[in-house]
Amino acid sequence: MTYNAKDRFYKQAKQDRYAARSVYKLEELDHRYGLFKRGQQIVDLGCAPGSWLQFLAEKVGKKGLVLGYDIAPAQVTPAPPATWKVADVYELTPTAVLTDLYTLRHGEPPPDPEAPPPMKVDAVVSDMAPKLTGIRDADQARSVELQSEALRLAEALVKPGGFFVAKLFQGRDTDEFVKRVKDFYKEAKLLKPEATREGSREVFLLARGKRAAKGLASPTERRR
Ligand SMILES: C[S@@+](CC[C@H](N)C(=O)[O-])C[C@H]1O[C@@H](n2cnc3c(N)ncnc32)[C@H](O)[C@@H]1O
Repeated sequence: MTYNAKDRFYKQAKQDRYAARSVYKLEELDHRYGLFKRGQQIVDLGCAPGSWLQFLAEKVGKKGLVLGYDIAPAQVTPAPPATWKVADVYELTPTAVLTDLYTLRHGEPPPDPEAPPPMKVDAVVSDMAPKLTGIRDADQARSVELQSEALRLAEALVKPGGFFVAKLFQGRDTDEFVKRVKDFYKEAKLLKPEATREGSREVFLLARGKRAAKGLASPTERRR
């Protein structure tokens, strides 16, 4: 499938000075579901070149925090307190993220970086995508693998009631992944924002209402 790379979202991103057209996908989810608010603390996985970082920094404001990670450097300097680091999600631990969050909040690392004070964030959002091979099933499986890492971090970092956003390539593992996410969140749905390119198999998972502990639905919920 070919597409016009300079489509209206690409042009709009240039005009709005966003690093990528991807921002309009997140903006649409926010517009529909009222996700992002002043003061929130958000972890952004696969943040480069940085349009989500820019958008999130604007939304959470000076009292919030935005921390992005990517294997590639971002191309933006988002308004503080928002920042990014180069890291591979497969090697990222919740302790490392907590140390970075503490450092971002306090301007210096925690006294013991191996044991940073525990804190929770409002959301983990992940636009991570593997390098595409063109082999549909392989690309889809690698996308689920990446987002499983995002889910692992979200499990440790997101506070009860918080949310999780993850990009997936729809395919045979998608339903299984959504099922796994439902162990941790009261609600999980797949959405296709308007800015998604025509013919793309990309969908966004939005999971809301993080449960207090892993997979522990309340007795009432379990009976439903
Ligand atoms: C579609 S781009 C993200 C665009 C970004 N949300 C924005 O608004 O600018 C997908 C990103 O996932 C990143 N990525 C892929 N594998 C990764 C990994 N193992 N760890 C961290 N980031 C990864 C890529 O480097 C790429 O920058």
